[in-house]
Amino acid sequence: MNTRRRFGGGATGNAQKGGTGGAVIDLFDVLARDHELVRALLRELEAGPPAGAGRRRLLPARKRQVDRLITEESGHEAVEGQYFWPEVRRVVPDGSDLADRGMAQERVARFLLDELLAFQPGEAAHEEMLAGFLNTAREHLKYEEHQVWPALRPRLSREEAADLGARIIRAKTWAPTRPHPRSSMRPALLRATAPLVGATDRFRDAVSGRHRH
Ligand SMILES: [Fe+2]
Repeated sequence: MNTRRRFGGGATGNAQKGGTGGAVIDLFDVLARDHELVRALLRELEAGPPAGAGRRRLLPARKRQVDRLITEESGHEAVEGQYFWPEVRRVVPDGSDLADRGMAQERVARFLLDELLAFQPGEAAHEEMLAGFLNTAREHLKYEEHQVWPALRPRLSREEAADLGARIIRAKTWAPTRPHPRSSMRPALLRATAPLVGATDRFRDAVSGRHRH
């Protein structure tokens, strides 16, 4: 039986607030930092050269940006699947519905990113898929921030939020760098397999020179 404490008033789970001035990083800080980074990458890509622009010398840089986006997104969603969504299901009254919807959005995003890996910047299909992904990703970030975080935040104690933040930071060390759209999103299985999948992804990245374009 879950006996989570509820924090009211100013203690909203942001452990950086309050009179102590302590800089404890909690779950929401970690997720917000990831979201900021993804948004910055989306903005960079949006500002980049469109398909067929003839600016071929800019395409390797665009490829690196896309790879970085895929790596960040893949790792972020994988650790959310391990620690964030299970917590939403456990402690938020309608958490299963919220989690089902969020994870369905992530599944669509993982398929889009997986397809992107098969194309090169400058190809029309690549730019079309990328444009679709930009919208999908922004909607998803908004959904989590506006609908899921506010439902979860008051139901976690400061310690629980800090503990989840620490777990997510640790899990990201060996998180997958590729989307794996067909892999199971069952949290226990994800937690057990993610380090091996992440290590394999890194090996594939090194062999293929994926981040050295
Ligand atoms: Fe997400």
